Amino acid sequence: MLDDAGELSFVPPAPHPGSHKANLFHLVRWGMSRPLDAWPRAVFEELSYRSPGPAAPLFIMDPAAIRAVFVDEADAFTQGAMFRRMMRPVWGEGILTSEGPAWRWQRRASAPAFRPAHMDALAPFMAQAAQSGLDRWAHGAQVDFAQEAGRMTFDAILDSTLSGGEGFERASLRSRITGFLSKVLTPRLSFYMASDRWHEGRSLPPAPGAAGLRRDVDAMIRHRREGEPRGDLVDLLLGAHDPESGHTMDDATLRDNLLGFMVAGYQTSSVALTWSVFLASQHAPTAARLRAEVEAVAGEASIGPEHVERLIFTRQVVSEALRLYPPAFQLYRVCVREAVVGGRVFRPGDKVLIPIYALHRHRRWWRDPDVFDPDRFAPDRPAPDRHLYMPFGAGGRVCLGAAFAMTELVVMLATLMRGATFTVDPNHRVWPGTAFELLPRGGMPMRIKPRR
Ligand code: HEM
Repeated sequence: MLDDAGELSFVPPAPHPGSHKANLFHLVRWGMSRPLDAWPRAVFEELSYRSPGPAAPLFIMDPAAIRAVFVDEADAFTQGAMFRRMMRPVWGEGILTSEGPAWRWQRRASAPAFRPAHMDALAPFMAQAAQSGLDRWAHGAQVDFAQEAGRMTFDAILDSTLSGGEGFERASLRSRITGFLSKVLTPRLSFYMASDRWHEGRSLPPAPGAAGLRRDVDAMIRHRREGEPRGDLVDLLLGAHDPESGHTMDDATLRDNLLGFMVAGYQTSSVALTWSVFLASQHAPTAARLRAEVEAVAGEASIGPEHVERLIFTRQVVSEALRLYPPAFQLYRVCVREAVVGGRVFRPGDKVLIPIYALHRHRRWWRDPDVFDPDRFAPDRPAPDRHLYMPFGAGGRVCLGAAFAMTELVVMLATLMRGATFTVDPNHRVWPGTAFELLPRGGMPMRIKPRR
C-alpha cells in the first residue's frame, strides 16, 4: 500500500483482529498471557462487546460511552477491589491506590509538581539517562533494547523522584521493583471468574522485600527533609499542600506516592521508548526526518527544555507509538451505583473494560488503523477525540505523569536517534504481547551502532 507521500506504508507487527469467536477457553487460556490474541474481531469493530464468563466485563469502544464512564458518571465507576487488592500490599494508600477524599486531596496537592513547566527542569536528567545508554554502546553493541530502555527510564525516574537513588544500589532496586511488578500484576483467573466483591477484604501475601524497600525510602525522605533542596520531584512534593483542605504529605504518604510514581512511570515509559525506537528505526523516511529535525533544533547540544517544544515531529512519532502500542493497553472499572451509560443500565458490581489497544486501532474510528503514520498527529490535523485516543487514560484519574512521560520520551528518542542507528536482529520476530504491559514478547534484540 502507498501512503499520501507515495511511500510504501509500514504496517508494524501486531496481532490482527481475531477471526475466532471468543469463548471462555480463549479468554482464560490467552487472557492470562496473550490478552490481545484473546480479543475477538468485534472488539475492533463494534461499539461494545460482552465477553463470556460468569463475571466477565463489558468491553466499551464508543467514545461517548467512555466519556460517561470516566467523566460524566465517574463517581459510579471505581477501580474496584481487585485492583486495590493487587496494588495495596506494596503501594499503600497513595494517589494510585486510594479513592474518595483521600485520593482527591493527594491528587490536588501533587498536581502542581507535575505541571509541564516543572517537567522542563527534569529534562536534563532524562537527556543524561539516554546519553549514558549511548556511552555504554560507544563501540557498538548487540543488546536486548527492551532491557536497555528499562535501564534508561529507570535512571530518569530515579533521578527525578527518589533523589537520584541516594542510598540505593540502582541495579538491585530496579530488579526489586520489576520483581514486585511481575508478581503483583500477574493476571489472575479470578479476573474473569469471580465477582469484584469476592476480592473485597482479601489480600495478597506481601511481596518479598517490600518492607525493606519501604524502609529505605522512609530513610531517604527523613534525610531530604533535613538537607538542601535540589529542585527534583521530592522537593516539590515535600512542599506540596492541598489548597482546599490545607493537607500536606506526612512521610508515609510521601513514601507511598514516590513508590507509586516509580511503579506507574518506570515500566510504562520503558515500553513506550522501546516501541518508539523500534518504529522510528524500522521506517527509513521517519528515521531520516527525525534526525534532520533533531539536528536542526539542537545541533550537537544535549537536548534541554529549550528544545522540547520545537521537536514537533519527534513528538508525533512518540504519539503514534503510543497509539499503536499503548503500554496501558486496557483499563478496568467496576460500577458502584446504578448508572446509565450508552443507553445501558449498569448496576453495582458490573465490570467495564476499555480495550485501549483495540480502541486505537478501531476500524470505525481510524483511517488505515494498523499503518504507522506519525502525521496523524501533525499540528495542522484535528486532534483525535480524547476518549478515543487515550494512552494516558481520561477524566479525573488521567495519568498524573503524562507531561513527565511525554517530555522524557521526546528527549530520549531525540537523543538516541541522533546518536546511533538501531537494527532489529533479523532472526527475531518482534511481537507485542505480555501479561500486563505491552512489552515485546521475547524482548527486542537490536544491533546498535554509534553515528559519530
Ligand atoms: C508512557 C508512560 C505512561 C503511560 C502510558 C501511563 C498511563 C497511565 C494510565 C492509562 C493511567 C490511568 C489509569 C486508570 O485510569 O486506571 C495512569 C495513571 C497514573 N500515572 Fe501514568 N503513565 C505513564 C507514565 C507515568 C509517569 C512517568 C508517572 C509519574 C512520574 C505516572 C504516574 C501516574 C499516576 C500517579 C497515576 C494515577 C493517577 C490517579 O489515579 O489519579 N505515569 N497512567
